[in-house]
Amino acid sequence: MDARAKAGVSIRSAAKRYGPVVALDDVSLDIAPGEFVSLLGPSGSGKTTLLGILGGFVQPSSGSVWVGDRDITFAPPHKRDIGIVFQNYALFPHMSVGENVAFPLRARRQPKAGWARKVSDALAMVELGGYESRGISQLSGGQRQRVALARAMVFEPQLILMDEPLSALDKQLRETMQIELRRLHRKLEATIVYVTHDQREALTMSDRVAVMRNGKLVQIDTPERLYDRPCDAFVASFIGEASMLPVKRAGEDAVMLGNTLLRTAHPLPHGDTLLLAVQTEKLVIDTALNHAGVNRLVCRVTEVLYQGESLRVFATLADGTAISLRQPGSHDARQRIPAAGSQMTVVLDPQDTIVVPG
Ligand SMILES: Nc1ncnc2c1ncn2[C@@H]1O[C@H](COP(=O)(O)OP(=O)(O)OP(=O)(O)O)[C@@H](O)[C@H]1O
Ligand SMILES: [Mg+2]
Repeated sequence: MDARAKAGVSIRSAAKRYGPVVALDDVSLDIAPGEFVSLLGPSGSGKTTLLGILGGFVQPSSGSVWVGDRDITFAPPHKRDIGIVFQNYALFPHMSVGENVAFPLRARRQPKAGWARKVSDALAMVELGGYESRGISQLSGGQRQRVALARAMVFEPQLILMDEPLSALDKQLRETMQIELRRLHRKLEATIVYVTHDQREALTMSDRVAVMRNGKLVQIDTPERLYDRPCDAFVASFIGEASMLPVKRAGEDAVMLGNTLLRTAHPLPHGDTLLLAVQTEKLVIDTALNHAGVNRLVCRVTEVLYQGESLRVFATLADGTAISLRQPGSHDARQRIPAAGSQMTVVLDPQDTIVVPG
C-alpha cells in the first residue's frame, strides 16, 4: 500500500443530539495514521453514532471531522475514501463473491481493466483466493464476514470502519477472526476504527481503546494502561472482572480496607470517597500463611467454583467484605486453594493496588 492508504483521523468536539437525547456529548479524539482504535462501551453509549459521524451517515450537531488535512464533516459517505464493515455483512445475496468485492470499484468508477486483479488480491488477503464465482449462500458465516472485509479494503481506503463485525459469529470463530483481523491490520497498515461492546475483543485487537459512556469518551489508552490504570470506577468495572471496595485514605500512598493497610504504587485520587478496584487475577494466594502485614488480606474461603481453564474463589474479610479471585486451572495452582471454610491470606502487590474516585 502506498502512503495515500494511511491517514490520521481527528474528531474535534463532536456532538450529536436527537431532540432531547444527547447521543454524543463533546467527543474529541485523534487517531494516528495506521492505528487500530476500538470504541468500547455499553449499549446506547454512542459508539455507532461516533462511527456514523466518521463514515458520513450521521451529521454532527456541532464539531468537525478531519482525515489527514481534509475537513470531511459535510462530505457525503461515497466521497470519504472510507471502507466500512457492519455487523450483518450487508453483502448482496444475488451477486457472486467476486461481484460483491468489485462493487466499491464499480461505485467509484475505477477503470474496469484493473478490477479482476484488485478483487483477487483482496480475496487472497482474507484467505479466500479463487472464491470469485461462489454464491454468497454457499459460504459459512466466517467466510461471509471475510468477503465483507475484502469488499471494504478492495479500493485501498485510507480508513476502515467496523461496527461489531464479529458479533454474529460463534465464540470460537470470533476469536479466530480477531487474530486474523489483527494480522490483516498489520499487513494493510490501514487506520481502523472498530466498535465493540466486548472488552476482551477490544483489548485483544487494539493499539488503543476508547471507553465510552452516556455519549462521552471516558478514557482512551493502550489496553495495558486501561487495564492497569483505569481512571474511574466505571472503566475499572467495565474492563476485566473487578470488585469495587470502599476504602479510607491512610496518608499519601496507602488506604485502609477494613483494618488492613494497603500501600499503592500510584498517586491517590482527590476526594474523600475512594474505591479499591481489585481485579480477580491480581490477588495472589500466599501459601506461607504469614498473617497480618502490609498488602496482605486475611480472609475466609466461602466457595470455590471450577470453571475449566480457571477457578473462581470467593472469600470474606474479617469485617464481612466479600472478595473474589481467580486461579489458573493447572494442577499446581489448584493445590494452593484452601477448602471452603478455611482461612487464607492473599497478597495484593502495591503496583496492582488501584484506587479510583468513589
Ligand atoms: N436516529 C436516532 N434517533 C434518536 N435517537 C437515536 C438515534 N440513533 C441513536 N439514538 C440514541 O443515541 C444513543 C446512542 O446510540 P448509539 O447507536 O450510538 O449507541 P451504541 O453505543 O452504538 O449502542 P449499541 O451497543 O446498542 O449498538 C442511544 O441513546 C440511542 O437511543
Ligand atoms: Mg451500535
